[in-house]
Amino acid sequence: MRLLVLGTGVMAKNQVANFLAIDGVEVVGAVDTDLVRLAEFADHFHIEKRFQTLEEAIAWGEFDSATNVTPDRIHHATSLALIAAGKHVFCEKPLAENYADALEMTETAEAAGVVNMVNLTYRNVAPLQRAREMVLAGELGTIRHVEASYLQSWLVSRAWGDWRTESRWLWRLSTGHGSNGVLGDVGIHILDFAAYGAATDIDHVFARLKTFNKAPGGQIGEYLLDANDSFTMSVDFTNGALGVIHATRWATGHLNELKLRIYGEKGSLEVIHRPDGSDLRGCFGEDIETAIWRDIEVPAVLTNYQRFAEAVRTGKQDDPTFRHAANLQKVIDLAIVSEKERRELNLLEASEQDSPADKRIPPLTVVV
Ligand SMILES: NC(=O)c1ccc[n+]([C@@H]2O[C@H](COP(=O)([O-])OP(=O)(O)OC[C@H]3O[C@@H](n4cnc5c(N)ncnc54)[C@H](O)[C@@H]3O)[C@@H](O)[C@H]2O)c1
Repeated sequence: MRLLVLGTGVMAKNQVANFLAIDGVEVVGAVDTDLVRLAEFADHFHIEKRFQTLEEAIAWGEFDSATNVTPDRIHHATSLALIAAGKHVFCEKPLAENYADALEMTETAEAAGVVNMVNLTYRNVAPLQRAREMVLAGELGTIRHVEASYLQSWLVSRAWGDWRTESRWLWRLSTGHGSNGVLGDVGIHILDFAAYGAATDIDHVFARLKTFNKAPGGQIGEYLLDANDSFTMSVDFTNGALGVIHATRWATGHLNELKLRIYGEKGSLEVIHRPDGSDLRGCFGEDIETAIWRDIEVPAVLTNYQRFAEAVRTGKQDDPTFRHAANLQKVIDLAIVSEKERRELNLLEASEQDSPADKRIPPLTVVV
């Protein structure tokens, strides 16, 4: 695979380190509008070809795939340009700013027949994959209740830098810079974590979003700090279970923690992922009477990066697809409407009137 890296910020470093560890993957070019960042990145990874615009890279054309690691707002136009040039695309999450754009990217990629995947990173968490297998094998029986949380603390801690002065955090706090806040940023991860782990889909959503005052006048420089930084959500799943999902950037003491608990009639599972590792625990059989939870061993799993490289090699599409990410985007869009109107919304019945920014939301049809 001859890979082009579009956007050379923090996540691109993580991605390229992973891609370069895969046999047969070559990173042949890099693009960034910020020439200082581009040079530092390309020097570090010994990438010869450097471009300030995607158009120049496409005109050069000596790559078959691209990873799109630009800020959320940039994903739509740039992925469409890559698809039009016949390139396979691995796009960062969230796929787009809204469902209509995400759907357009999905349909364009599918019509072009290129491999399209979205980097829902926590699919790389082995306990999540094992939990899903156990649910699908019926080991938990009927699922009744699901709880999931994604906790970060970068608004109160400096462990990842200072959000008051760094553009990579400031754009995430501003809707004018293309962010849907914590909901769009890591909400998409936890929605996927919950529904994928419980082997189901969300079909009703009722959300509360909150934006706390963080700076005088709610603004720092060009950044109006109006994007949500905490959300709570109650959802119904297509398997009949009820769920509660929440995320925040104010979880003092948690740098980056995802937690999922799935409660079934025959047993329960808990998946926890933190920067220092992941665990799976379960309560089954006679342990249900004494509420004893035991650790469950899990085998290693392939990463999204490995599966994208393999999909490009074989020409066979793999998960998570653009279509799946678009469906999650629809949950996010409706969560925003439900906060504004303080009412529950049904994904199957969402109408034009329910869609933010006058973008139409067609019914959800795909099951994970
Ligand atoms: N999957 C994950 O776990 C995960 C984690 C972090 C970030 N992300 C996602 O990765 C993306 C990038 O995040 P980041 O933290 O690296 O941001 P960042 O701000 O550090 O980097 C983005 C880079 O893109 C460049 N850029 C902006 N517009 C461009 C354009 N038109 N063409 C080329 N380059 C352009 C910027 O100059 C910057 O260098 C976001 O969509 C984010 O949501 C995903």
